Amino acid sequence: MKKILVTGGLGYIGSHTVVELQSSGYDVVVIDNLDNSTEGVKEQIVSISGRSIDLVIGDVNDEQTMNRLFQEHNFYGVIHFAAYKAVGESVDNPIKYYQNNITGLICLLGAMERHGVQNLIFSSSCTVYGIAEDLPVIEDTPIKSAESPYGTTKIIGEKIIQDYTKHKNINAILLRYFNPVGAHPSAKIGEFPNGVPSNLVPYITQTAAGIREQLVIHGNDYNTSDGTCIRDYIHVVDLAKAHVKAMIFVDKMPNSVDVFNVGTGNGSSVLEVVKAFEERSDIRLNYIVGPRRDGDVEQIFADTQKINHVLQWQAEYDLHDMMYHAWLWQKSISRKIN
Ligand code: UD1
Repeated sequence: MKKILVTGGLGYIGSHTVVELQSSGYDVVVIDNLDNSTEGVKEQIVSISGRSIDLVIGDVNDEQTMNRLFQEHNFYGVIHFAAYKAVGESVDNPIKYYQNNITGLICLLGAMERHGVQNLIFSSSCTVYGIAEDLPVIEDTPIKSAESPYGTTKIIGEKIIQDYTKHKNINAILLRYFNPVGAHPSAKIGEFPNGVPSNLVPYITQTAAGIREQLVIHGNDYNTSDGTCIRDYIHVVDLAKAHVKAMIFVDKMPNSVDVFNVGTGNGSSVLEVVKAFEERSDIRLNYIVGPRRDGDVEQIFADTQKINHVLQWQAEYDLHDMMYHAWLWQKSISRKIN
């Protein structure tokens, strides 16, 4: 059985990916520093997949821990999630982001090289496209400067891997996620936002659960069909499955590095998301329209032809499923809190 190291494997996207890897027959070892996750997620993963996980509580920045891990296990590949991801926090504390996201990646690449591990899947983001002129965005769209230090860490991370694979024996796939939302249909794993959520879907579900009073829609005067911003929301389980496809394909690529958009290819406006949530939860959401949020892009959605054809991956869940599963998850964690 092929063994995969998943860094940040107890986090939101990591935990869903561990489940999908296990159901596809991979053995999984997780390293997670519990910065934005809890140890209890391990039990939840095991209860979904029925398979055990080797968990190391530790940091990818710690060379000794990484060396020990790579000595103990013979990894076929690595999926690297361990990174900070809050856009606003990265503006306030850029060094924290460069330190963790860039240094962590460099440490990981060093460990892979020392121990002869060749296959890497890297979490990137559609944030690298900035304000795209042509929609939907294709992978060849030129990368401009990012809107935040978080975005810059993704651009630099991609560049480091591209440079590295030119001269080292490493195959890498960079996955550019659009807007991951939803939760596992079992409602056993999902996203735990840190404090007040800045992302739309956790804010919606927390408002519906009575944790937040009111959702503020950030502007309805954009040049879109209903005036609100458009994004390509992707179910986290579909996204997790894209990592499994990438792991199957990574050592069969004609080039040593390749990049894929991971989205549904459909743009949805903020109001469409709210409406889908209301329909699936049977709850009328308390919301108002406020001013635009600084740094928001008017619209972005993916061209998914490359991932559809090359990796043979396609999103299966629609916006209503995403809202339904996000709501089941919210209800399950609200029950635990109350
Ligand atoms: C943000 C990040 C992106 C990251 C993603 C992770 C930026 C510029 N981009 O995407 O890099 O990968 O999160 O999920 O921050 N909205 C409201 N009210 C709210 C919250 C959001 O109207 O309370 C609107 C936003 O204005 C936006 C849409 O909902 O139009 C989606 O916002 P959000 O969930 O924060 O994601 P992004 O900003 O697209």
